[in-house]
Amino acid sequence: MSPFQLTRTLPDDATGAALRADVLHGLTHTPKELPPKWFYDARGSELFDEITRLPEYYPTRAEREILIERASEIATATGARTLVELGSGSSEKTRHLLAALSGPVAYVPVDVSESALRGAATSLLAWRPELQVHALVADFTRGLALPGTPGPRLVAFLGGTIGNLLPAERALFLRSVRELLGPDDALLLGTDLVKDEEVLVRAYDDTAGVTAEFNRNVLRVIARELDADVDPEDFAHVALWDREREWIEMRLRARSALTVKIPELNLVVPFEEGEEVRTEVSAKFRREGVRAELADAGLTLAEWWTDRAGAFALSLARPTA
Ligand code: SAH
Ligand code: AVI
Repeated sequence: MSPFQLTRTLPDDATGAALRADVLHGLTHTPKELPPKWFYDARGSELFDEITRLPEYYPTRAEREILIERASEIATATGARTLVELGSGSSEKTRHLLAALSGPVAYVPVDVSESALRGAATSLLAWRPELQVHALVADFTRGLALPGTPGPRLVAFLGGTIGNLLPAERALFLRSVRELLGPDDALLLGTDLVKDEEVLVRAYDDTAGVTAEFNRNVLRVIARELDADVDPEDFAHVALWDREREWIEMRLRARSALTVKIPELNLVVPFEEGEEVRTEVSAKFRREGVRAELADAGLTLAEWWTDRAGAFALSLARPTA
């Protein structure tokens, strides 16, 4: 068998149809909103990778520190022979896990971004030619059909991407992950932690303006895919901390009164000057909240590891007996 297989679980126009439905719903909703998964075309995936190297964006470095420290403990505790990774992106940090797992290992990266999956597989196979990579182009919120690779399975969801789901979406998502797991399988979950507001806001509003470009990229995707009449530069990047809900919110704010036109959706969307569209939430967590959300989904928190600064946490969870 070839060491690389790519399966598209999305039907041919699934992406276009889902984008049209989300844009129609989100831009006619009050307040206006767009789901964050549409950031990640090839350019968006590159911009995210650039974000992970910014001095202000600490989560990637903090999670990498934990992975380096704990990879062998994770490998021993799980005995995993298949590593499934949801929202795998560039799979860079994943190498620490793959290097620690013993024996022949299958790696199943799952992402909506085919370009990210192809790039990751190419560099992983240059590093470890014997690795079996079975990439899935799929939306991890829509139920997953995993390939029949050997168990035990470790399902990793890194980067804090769970924080990009709203609380109700998170509950559904965690339940669907629980259903994927057999009694010997485990979940490895990365969560960014609540901390000083200034540190948080800086991580989402960097001085080089990379996050602003990433944020505006959703409008570039809509302009290209839906032939929309919208100029991303007409919108300013906004990042703010919602103290009550303990999440960062990214928005795009109209610099002046304007109209976004999408003829193929019969949509004309007026914006007042200063009107905003929410493009992402990035929830920050506390240990008790993570434990409780896992428990509600039928998962028991077995381990909780943080980096030395206490910025980020990795949880290991198992199906509740
Ligand atoms: N795990 C990597 C990348 C995080 S960026 C890291 O920790 O650095 C978030 C990734 O999740 C992107 O690659 C994006 O394409 C993917 N993603 C976002 N929403 C998704 C969804 N609903 N289904 C599948 N992949 C998704
Ligand atoms: C992918 N996800 C965890 C990132 C985050 O921090 O919420 C996406 C991101 N948005 C702005 N910067 C990075």
